[in-house]
Amino acid sequence: SCTEQEKTSLLQFLAGLSPKSGLLELWQNATACCMWEGITCGTDGMVVDVSLASRSLQGHISPSLGNLTRLLSLNLSNNLLSGELPQELVSSGSITAIDVSSNRLEGELHDSPLFDVIDLSYNQFNGNIPPELGSCSMLRVLKVGHNNLSGTLPDELFNATSLDIPESIGHLKRLQELHLNHNLMSGQLPSTLTNCTNLTTIDLKSNNFSGELAKVNFSKLPNLKTLDLMSNTFSGTIPESIYSCMNLTALRLSSNKFHGQLGEGLGNLKFLSFLSLGNNNLTNITNALQILGSSKNLTTLLIAHNFMYEDMPDDGIIKGFENLQVFALNSCSLSGEIPRWLSKLTNLGVLVLHDNQLTGSIPDWISSLNFLVFLKISNNSLIGEILTALMQMPMLRSKEATTHLDPRDFQLPIYLEIGMLQAIWGLNLSSNLLSGDIPQSICDLTSLQVLDLSSNNLTGTIPSALNHLHFLSEFNISNNELQGPIPVGGQISTFQSSSFDGNSRLCGPVLNRCGASVEQLPFPSSLQTDGA
Ligand SMILES: *[C@@H]1O[C@H](CO)[C@@H](O)[C@H](O)[C@H]1NC(C)=O
Ligand SMILES: *[C@@H]1O[C@H](CO)[C@@H](O)[C@H](O)[C@H]1NC(C)=O
Ligand SMILES: *[C@@H]1O[C@H](CO)[C@@H](O)[C@H](O)[C@H]1NC(C)=O
Ligand SMILES: *[C@@H]1O[C@H](CO)[C@@H](O)[C@H](O)[C@H]1NC(C)=O
Ligand SMILES: *[C@@H]1O[C@H](CO)[C@@H](O)[C@H](O)[C@H]1NC(C)=O
Ligand SMILES: *[C@@H]1O[C@H](CO)[C@@H](O)[C@H](O)[C@H]1NC(C)=O
Ligand SMILES: *[C@@H]1O[C@H](CO)[C@@H](O)[C@H](O)[C@H]1NC(C)=O
Ligand SMILES: *[C@@H]1O[C@H](CO)[C@@H](O)[C@H](O)[C@H]1NC(C)=O
Ligand SMILES: *[C@@H]1O[C@H](CO)[C@@H](O)[C@H](O)[C@H]1NC(C)=O
Ligand SMILES: *[C@@H]1O[C@H](CO)[C@@H](O)[C@H](O)[C@H]1NC(C)=O
Ligand SMILES: *[C@@H]1O[C@H](CO)[C@@H](O)[C@H](O)[C@H]1NC(C)=O
Repeated sequence: SCTEQEKTSLLQFLAGLSPKSGLLELWQNATACCMWEGITCGTDGMVVDVSLASRSLQGHISPSLGNLTRLLSLNLSNNLLSGELPQELVSSGSITAIDVSSNRLEGELHDSPLFDVIDLSYNQFNGNIPPELGSCSMLRVLKVGHNNLSGTLPDELFNATSLDIPESIGHLKRLQELHLNHNLMSGQLPSTLTNCTNLTTIDLKSNNFSGELAKVNFSKLPNLKTLDLMSNTFSGTIPESIYSCMNLTALRLSSNKFHGQLGEGLGNLKFLSFLSLGNNNLTNITNALQILGSSKNLTTLLIAHNFMYEDMPDDGIIKGFENLQVFALNSCSLSGEIPRWLSKLTNLGVLVLHDNQLTGSIPDWISSLNFLVFLKISNNSLIGEILTALMQMPMLRSKEATTHLDPRDFQLPIYLEIGMLQAIWGLNLSSNLLSGDIPQSICDLTSLQVLDLSSNNLTGTIPSALNHLHFLSEFNISNNELQGPIPVGGQISTFQSSSFDGNSRLCGPVLNRCGASVEQLPFPSSLQTDGA
């Protein structure tokens, strides 16, 4: 059993929790507190581990836990705990890992912890990162993402050379993961970041960091696997030194202010599988695609909102991309046609080319992209009919094959970036110049969740078999020249009038035209010819 003092400390902790937490029932049965749920003792009966993650614990964290003098690891993540993280815990001499992520903790971060692992993410901490963290000689993992932290990154955090304590120089180099994402931090990245040569992950996304990234020499971080700087205000060109991080698997620099052309070295990153550079001011799409085509392991490429008003590169110039599964090159106002080199990307699952100025028709080779499940080519200047070939795409026709594109395979979550939401089975052809009928074969795409054909020149009637699309959650055929009745008694009739507006000869109850009761009609009943 544990000692009386240890038991008292644990019971004080229990007293700080709301009775709703249910821990009391779990603990009262066993008399020996070393046997209590979530408690582990060493051979001497001293508590070494408190693991109470995901137990809906409410209330505050009692400072009494700081009296567990041999406690090594405290894991209270994913509960509903509120109040501050007690200073007694942070300054405990024994604890090497604290995980209180995903709670409702608040207040300022305390300084001088000596932990191996600190995970304070998903709380409501505010204020600055205490510079004293830089003296955490054992710090290996620091996670403080998803809080309300502000201010600049303290130089001390990286300034090994500023510590006179020689041991610390070596120890700081053990920092492997730095997660400061989703805060309000600003300023430049200190060049001393390069002292942390063991870094494998840098996640600073969604902050307000700025300045030229070129000041950091990434060549000195050979172990870096993930660099995520999305949604900051970094400027300048993408530093060449990033291209020497040969172990990089995921690089995301999207939503910053980078400009210029990509460097050739990017093509040499042979492990790179996820690259997101969207929403910057990069130039020369031809150059970019020529360089990236040789990245054998590239599966996700998101480069939208760059290359404004350039030409889509011609066939013959672009090669490679054998393993590409997700490709987003939307919102660049590119001119030209949907290029034929895309037909060789046989692993493509998601193709996003909307908001460009592409002309010509939808190519018939589109049906040879066997794995395509999401196609967004809306808001271009595409002409011609909606090809039956488009409807032959095997993946649009059978649900089984979804496995090829598993969102869990993505190195970093991408849904926000390409606005797919959860609907992955989608066809968006809106805002083009497409003409002809809605092909009957569209009704065979029974897995379809999103179908948007709005703002084209489509004519004819709505195929009644569209009612077979039982998974449709978004449907839009507004602003065409369709006519006749809206099919009744199925999925299609459940959509609002906005899905059908702007087709003056279309009729149905939802539009208050033909088939509606007299009272609902906006025009005199004398004009009514049937149903009245
Ligand atoms: C406490 O012990 C009783 C009797 O052994 C058992 O029925 C009950 O489920 C236990 N409660 C908890 C919360 O373990
Ligand atoms: C820690 O233990 C000491 C001695 O038993 C006691 O005086 C003190 O109140 C305890 N501290 C907390 C925060 O429980
Ligand atoms: C805390 O526990 C959760 C749930 O078991 C686990 O996912 C997490 O990795 C643990 N934290 C640490 C730092 O080990
Ligand atoms: C960082 O180290 C440099 C060089 O040793 C020193 O001049 C500087 O004052 C240190 N910065 C801080 C914030 O400690
Ligand atoms: C971001 O930083 C810039 C200066 O670099 C500042 O002008 C701006 O107000 C900051 N934005 C926020 C939201 O803090
Ligand atoms: C970056 O570091 C590499 C390797 O240490 C070195 O060769 C290179 O000269 C450095 N570049 C700059 C701009 O300091
Ligand atoms: C490419 O990625 C696969 C898994 O995605 C991995 O097994 C393989 O080692 C990688 N190859 C290279 C050369 O990076
Ligand atoms: C993008 O870069 C071009 C030059 O390459 C420049 O003229 C333009 O002002 C930049 N746009 C923005 C928003 O920075
Ligand atoms: C764009 O890149 C291509 C291929 O690398 C190159 O030939 C061309 O000169 C570049 N254009 C500009 C304007 O730099
Ligand atoms: C269509 O794309 C252009 C860029 O080519 C963009 O400026 C415009 O806002 C887009 N229109 C819609 C309705 O999204
Ligand atoms: C189709 O794409 C357009 C922009 O190109 C967008 O405005 C519209 O919301 C999309 N439709 C659906 C159903 O997501």
